[in-house]
Amino acid sequence: MKHAVRTIRPSRRLAALEGYAFDEVRKRVDALRAQGIEPIDFGVGDPTVPTPAFIRERLKTAVDERATAGYPSYQGDPGYRRACAAWMERRFGVALDPDREVCATIGSKEAVFHAPEGILDPGDLILVPSPGYPPYKRGALFAEATPWFYPLRRENGFLPDLDAIPPDVADRARAIWVCYPNSPSGAVADRAFYERLVEKADRHDWVVLSDEAYSEIYFGDEPPVSLIEVQKEGSLVFFSMSKRSAMTGWRIGWVAGDEELVALFRKVKTNVDSGTPTFIQDAAVAALEDETHVREFRDAYREKRDILLAAFAASGLEDCTPPASLYIWQQVPEGMSGIDFAARLLEPDIAAVCTPGEWISDVVADGSNPGAGYARFALVPTLEDTQRAADKIAQLTW
Ligand SMILES: Cc1ncc(COP(=O)(O)O)c(C=O)c1O
Repeated sequence: MKHAVRTIRPSRRLAALEGYAFDEVRKRVDALRAQGIEPIDFGVGDPTVPTPAFIRERLKTAVDERATAGYPSYQGDPGYRRACAAWMERRFGVALDPDREVCATIGSKEAVFHAPEGILDPGDLILVPSPGYPPYKRGALFAEATPWFYPLRRENGFLPDLDAIPPDVADRARAIWVCYPNSPSGAVADRAFYERLVEKADRHDWVVLSDEAYSEIYFGDEPPVSLIEVQKEGSLVFFSMSKRSAMTGWRIGWVAGDEELVALFRKVKTNVDSGTPTFIQDAAVAALEDETHVREFRDAYREKRDILLAAFAASGLEDCTPPASLYIWQQVPEGMSGIDFAARLLEPDIAAVCTPGEWISDVVADGSNPGAGYARFALVPTLEDTQRAADKIAQLTW
């Protein structure tokens, strides 16, 4: 029987959004594959190495231990939350109450997207980095809040210039997103920066949302500092197992910080989801108790970073060595856009995929786009593929 024709239209919120950048990157990869070309994909920051065997083994035993599956706990299994708190104490020297100051997430993406629902009302202003991880903006928009983009520029070490935020904006803003180690620039924030940030946030009454998904991917001797080492009150920090332990597909992370913020976040989530499967949380506990695999991942990323940087140097590109993260935020040749540059690399003789800077950035108050003229390379292809792409890129002249 034929149904009556229905009126199907997108919500205004959805219709206002352009495509999701990394979905567009995936489409490019698929288009090359359809032409019989296997591209080397530096597009999405999705590790291609297997999740370490001991973590997978722990999952297998956990599935049997949790034979009665049941819904996971909204805030995460107590054992998982204890492991998160213990890890944070070892790593940052900060004691957290696992019951009140930690909440499990289904990976950082959902947490980043949902956090504004708990703290912002329609029309509220939130300060968002440009370039930046797209869910900062999109989560704000779905909460009907207004993102105000602050630029991350090379001349400021890709840190926000807090004094450049106009006073009326600073006064109206309710919250700020920061992300260090930074995606896409790889910049690291030191304690002095967080102290300045917290002082400014105190003055203007901002909640500070700190995305620290890349905290464990660093190349210097000293591990990056966390916002939580400087101030817990008014702070919510977002951690992820994805990059630390090559667990993107497992969908698990956590938030920690101010107990009131954690409680609001938890309340949002009880309305949205039912948590990461508990056996995955059990495996994540095993992952958090081991640092050897994390060191090995860091070494492998450093090796790939250096191979690609040498190729960029050989082809006459600017030195954009990142001290941390999974990315190289490469400045493209003068006069070229990130989109032109990415299109050149996509041609069949190179067939390398990267993300144009313009796709992960927004126009800021002075009308410029700080992501223009950059391209982001995720250091995720194998060493051999990275070398293959580097050999070809090194031959390019611009
Ligand atoms: C800056 C940043 N934050 C958060 C995430 C989300 O990671 P996940 O949802 O896998 O925990 C990503 C993923 O690429 C990211 O780049």
